[in-house]
Amino acid sequence: MHYHRRPRWALKENLVTSEDVFLSRRAVLAGMGVSAGLLASGQSARAAMTPEDAFSPTPALNPAFADGGRAVTEEAITSQYNNFYEFGSSKRIAREAQKLTTDDWVIEVDGMVSTPFSIGIEDLIKRVNIEERIVRHRCVEAWSMVVPWIGFPMAELVALANPTTDAKYIRFETFMDTDISREQRASWYPWPYVEGFTMAEATNELAFMVVGAYGKVLHRQFGAPLRVHMPWKYGFKSIKSIVKVSFTDQQPLGFWEELQAKEYGFWANVNPEVAHPRWSQATEQPLAGGERIPTLPFNGYAAEVAHLYDGMDAQFGDRLYR
Ligand code: MTE
Repeated sequence: MHYHRRPRWALKENLVTSEDVFLSRRAVLAGMGVSAGLLASGQSARAAMTPEDAFSPTPALNPAFADGGRAVTEEAITSQYNNFYEFGSSKRIAREAQKLTTDDWVIEVDGMVSTPFSIGIEDLIKRVNIEERIVRHRCVEAWSMVVPWIGFPMAELVALANPTTDAKYIRFETFMDTDISREQRASWYPWPYVEGFTMAEATNELAFMVVGAYGKVLHRQFGAPLRVHMPWKYGFKSIKSIVKVSFTDQQPLGFWEELQAKEYGFWANVNPEVAHPRWSQATEQPLAGGERIPTLPFNGYAAEVAHLYDGMDAQFGDRLYR
């Protein structure tokens, strides 16, 4: 598939930090075991990106994923109707989510990789190709939206991590901090939020790591500063505010799967033929309003991903959802 790729992403000059901030950040990163190579590159000398600042430079739109087949849902709607249980179980968590501090955000990469390392979000962004994609998002609660995400292919994260051939899955973990998230004090939830994918899913061209939306650095309520977006899977797979990426030969147990395995399975591919116990999946309600519309297999992305599940029908049948 041919599409334009931006040159390597660079931060605006005015985002370069002062030396003292840089030095203290270096110390933090060193303490967390950032590899000498990453530090030596000097690319830690960057300020944190502030959520909702303009994303600069403006990323090019990837024409392969440019319209979602539907109009973009307004930011005023999608940024005020969120699932982010760390900040509450209602959809109106945007204000509470402002407690999230994304300064000096570090992501740990471990498990079955040649060399485990930690990397700051700004450094990560410098090592990947940033682009914009307009894609559909379908929640298992049967609402949907179309969002212009900014980010990079998950395959690039995998390449950077350099997993060993034993790795069969990628596992993501959200932050755990009961000062920021009062909800994480609730012991009936299996915090922190976890999700995972097979390596074939993770390296599919549709699998996306999100760092921005609507031309801006990612809003806190969307899962700043780094989240997943898997357009062909139900929304709960798209884990937010990631602090840890692990490679493993064990199928990861997701947050919702651990809570209620019969309702939220590992695969969670959008399938209009298989109802969730509480919600039919045949149609969906666009957040933008209007009529309900039919839900498509793999959320309309069968051409890109259906082959990943070839031969699995016999194993899963109508349980492909799970
Ligand atoms: N990630 C974390 N850490 N916590 C969550 O509660 N909710 C999931 C997913 N990722 C969730 C999460 C669910 S159920 C959905 S539908 C999407 O985020 C919602 O993304 P949005 O708020 O950006 O629309």
